Amino acid sequence: MKVLVVGTGAREHVICESLKDDVDLYSYMSNINPGIARISKYKQGNELNIEKVAEYAKNENIEMVIIGSEAPLGKGIVDELEKYEIKSVGPNINAARIETDKSFMRDLFEEYKLPGSLTFKVFDNYEDINNFLDDYDNEVVVKPVGLTGGKGVKIVGDHLKDNNEAKIYAKKIIDTKMGGFSQVIIEEKAIGEEFTIQAFSDGENLSPMPAAQDHPHAFEGDNGPITGGMGSYSDNNGLLPFLTHKEYDDAVQIMKKSILAIKDKASHYKGILYGQFMLTKDGPKLIEYNARFGDPEVMNTLPLMETPMIDVCNGIVDGKLKKVSFTDKASVCKYLVPDGYPETKYANTLIRVDEEKINSLGGHVYYAAVNQKEYGIYTSSSRAIGVVGIGDRISDGEKIAETSCNYIQGNLYHRKDIGKKELVDKRVDHINEIRI
Ligand code: GLY
Repeated sequence: MKVLVVGTGAREHVICESLKDDVDLYSYMSNINPGIARISKYKQGNELNIEKVAEYAKNENIEMVIIGSEAPLGKGIVDELEKYEIKSVGPNINAARIETDKSFMRDLFEEYKLPGSLTFKVFDNYEDINNFLDDYDNEVVVKPVGLTGGKGVKIVGDHLKDNNEAKIYAKKIIDTKMGGFSQVIIEEKAIGEEFTIQAFSDGENLSPMPAAQDHPHAFEGDNGPITGGMGSYSDNNGLLPFLTHKEYDDAVQIMKKSILAIKDKASHYKGILYGQFMLTKDGPKLIEYNARFGDPEVMNTLPLMETPMIDVCNGIVDGKLKKVSFTDKASVCKYLVPDGYPETKYANTLIRVDEEKINSLGGHVYYAAVNQKEYGIYTSSSRAIGVVGIGDRISDGEKIAETSCNYIQGNLYHRKDIGKKELVDKRVDHINEIRI
């Protein structure tokens, strides 16, 4: 079967790895990702040019397309492929609104009385923002309604000093039409520990993956600016050390109910649903949905999947998704990023990766924002390489991932603390304090 993966990063690299033995693999990517290039027939091109991607798929007689990132979904790539009767793992433009339009998402929770929502309001003028925030006693989160590549959300107490700064930022979002809408969404700030559940959905049935926890802060000890995610871990029982079975199940129930609500309101949701949750004293609350795998969290879950990826994808597009199974192992992913990331960026420098040595240690390398050139692999301005260790316990995966990082040379840094006992214990202690 001819399968095309659209996208250029580590997320798409791990998707390609999960398919390569079972399909005739094609890829469409903006940079030459060396990991994807060596296992697929590839075409270099802008993934946002959805008409071109669809034409390429038609000309190559592709039977199924897997879309890695949210931006082409928001542009309607699935609908474009449908014109040629090509099936996609990814929601159509209407169903993708669960990520691309945050007011659609929150309204859905309200209309269908879905559990796990947060207090929110959508604004399109300054006066209402001022009136609301003058009367609101708690800290808030300010979000553009549309897509901003993960850079638009600002939290009082983190990026913003107080609710007055929240007012100023909310006005800026409206003035600049950040994310494509002259609207801003202001939400209650949920307090707790964040966790991720990714799930496969055929529009009716939903099969979840093990929970994972990302680390958005650039520096050790959860300090520094917020990034795309510096690494993540998952545990051998599919839960997290601070997350109970019931809390995991409660979050999955929210996702199952959401899929049925999306079907009723918009369209069958066929693809990956990424739920970012906050575990609060009142249980899991939905922070946001993404319409694709998490990055880095996909590097925790796909390597543990026992059900062949192609069977899962066929189940999604045919509406016959069955329970997907995963091995009982823990995993730790650490991202190596260019020095200065996410601010000053030392892009376009040569890196050296001793993959043979890393593989001999049991580590896995997934290439992200790098470019294969004639004389080697070069960084770009974003996260460069995800390194994954898998073991019986989180600490085993951590040791493999950390040792593997020694065999990658270049102007790069990573967070050594991700997956280490001290940091995992800090999460558990935090939740224990909140539960009191
Ligand atoms: N881990 C953050 C994201 O995938 O959006």
